[in-house]
Order: sequence, then C-alpha cells, then structure tokens
Amino acid sequence: MLHIENVGKSFGALTVLRGINLEAAAGRITGIIGPNGAGKSTLLNVVGGLFPNDTGRILLDGTDVTPLPMHERARCGLVRTFQISRELGELTVLENLMLARQAQTGEAVLGALLRPGSVAREERAAVLEAKGLLDNVGLWRLADQSARALSGGQKKLLELSRALMLKPKIILLDEPAAGVSPPMRLEISKVIRGLCQDGMTFVIVEHDMDMIASLCDQVYVMAEGKNLTSGTFGEVVADDRVVRAYLGGVA
Ligand SMILES: Nc1ncnc2c1ncn2[C@@H]1O[C@H](COP(=O)(O)OP(=O)(O)OP(=O)(O)O)[C@@H](O)[C@H]1O
Ligand SMILES: [Mg+2]
Repeated sequence: MLHIENVGKSFGALTVLRGINLEAAAGRITGIIGPNGAGKSTLLNVVGGLFPNDTGRILLDGTDVTPLPMHERARCGLVRTFQISRELGELTVLENLMLARQAQTGEAVLGALLRPGSVAREERAAVLEAKGLLDNVGLWRLADQSARALSGGQKKLLELSRALMLKPKIILLDEPAAGVSPPMRLEISKVIRGLCQDGMTFVIVEHDMDMIASLCDQVYVMAEGKNLTSGTFGEVVADDRVVRAYLGGVA
C-alpha cells in the first residue's frame, strides 16, 4: 500500500534521511525501530507531508503522492497522527474529533457557512461516526470532558480516533506507547490489532519492543538516517548490526 523509495531529507547542513526505502503491506502493521536520532519521526513527518523530502518518492496504492501537501495526502488516505496540543486540550474529546476533519482535510469554513443545511446533516452524521469511534476505544463516556484531563494513554487513543475520522487507508503512528502506563499500552495494542483485523494498515514507530514484537509482521531498523535491515522482529533483533546500532557502534 505504501512504497517509500530513496527518501532523503536535510535540515540545512544536517542530513537526517539518506535514501530510505520501505514497503508497508495493506492490512498489516509495519514497525520502524532504531536508536534515538535515527530519523524515524522525520521519516513519518516527510511521508505524512509535514515537510517536503529532498530526494525520492512516496507512492500510496501506486499513486505518487510526493507533490501533495499534507491535507491532500490525508484526503488520499495517508494520515499521520499528531499529539494533542495545548490548544486542542482546551476542547472536549468530542470536539477534538469533530475538528479533526476540517483541520486535516483543509475543508473550507466559509463553504460550510454558505451551506448551512447540508452542513447540519453532515455534522449529525459526523457526531454519530465520532460516537462509534469513541465507543470503540472506550472514550465515549468522556466525550464531554476536556482533552487536557485525559491520561497519557487516553490521549493516544484520542489521537488515533482523530486520525480515524478522516477514513484513512493507512495510519502513521509515532510512539503510541510513549508516556503510557503498561496496562494502557496493552489496551492501545488491542485497539490497533482490532483496527488491523478490520482492514486498517499501520506504520508504527516505537521504542517499546514488546509492542513491536506483538503487533508487527515486518520490522524496519533505521540508524543514522539509513535503512539498517528489515525482517521479522525475531530476525532483526538477532542481527549483530542492530545490537551495535543501539549501543552506538555504527560506523
Ligand atoms: N524540524 C527539524 N529541524 C532541524 N532538525 C531536525 C528537525 N526534526 C528533526 N531534526 C533532527 O533530525 C535528527 C533525527 O531526528 P528524529 O526526531 O527524526 O529522530 P528519531 O529517530 O525519531 O529519534 P527518537 O527515537 O529520539 O524519537 C535529529 O538530529 C534531530 O535533531
Ligand atoms: Mg522520534
């Protein structure tokens, strides 16, 4: 579904991605691991369209999305989750989901104001959809609470639900287990696995190796902005080069 080919990215004089290649198969969970500073988050940012890449291309279902800005990639079904910012924290859980559609699809507010009838119908449909999504992740009873009051894990589930409002084909998740209690990590894994069984495709960057081992069919290891290796979790952790990369021994 997602084909990343020779993607490179520099910030000024600092080269962060040096020709990354990656394939994410439909209906599967593809993992990306690697030491701090390897470029994992930058890769998700570039693939999601937050920053342009300098080299290479990104194909979604065979279509080259490299020239598209973030909201158009989201419209094509390629969605990266974002942390609930301070501003979004002021909104309720339900409002966060309602806003996710406009914020990431770039839907014109003016157009909505000019078509009040159809907007009201769409809003009602969107509330029902949001309720279904929040029910699915166990957040519906918190729908009217401000997002700020959620636990770390609940915020991650809210970020995921915001992404799902866009009806994506593939979701890019950056460290869904970070800052989350161990029981909640299991809950998040369960939600991701359930969505995958319903046909969703994921790319997950994560330092929690238990989560990667339990969820991912294929794991890519990045180090110093490059592909180090890929394979099953068992294969990559048995690779000496991976161990050395984590110990800081990569030349
Ligand atoms: N917007 C930016 N401007 C300048 N440099 C950046 C930017 N984003 C990332 N970097 C740099 O790119 C390098 C890779 O960072 P990145 O966040 O992608 O690593 P990572 O693999 O996600 O690490 P971690 O596991 O710690 O999250 C770092 O040296 C970082 O400082
Ligand atoms: Mg990162």
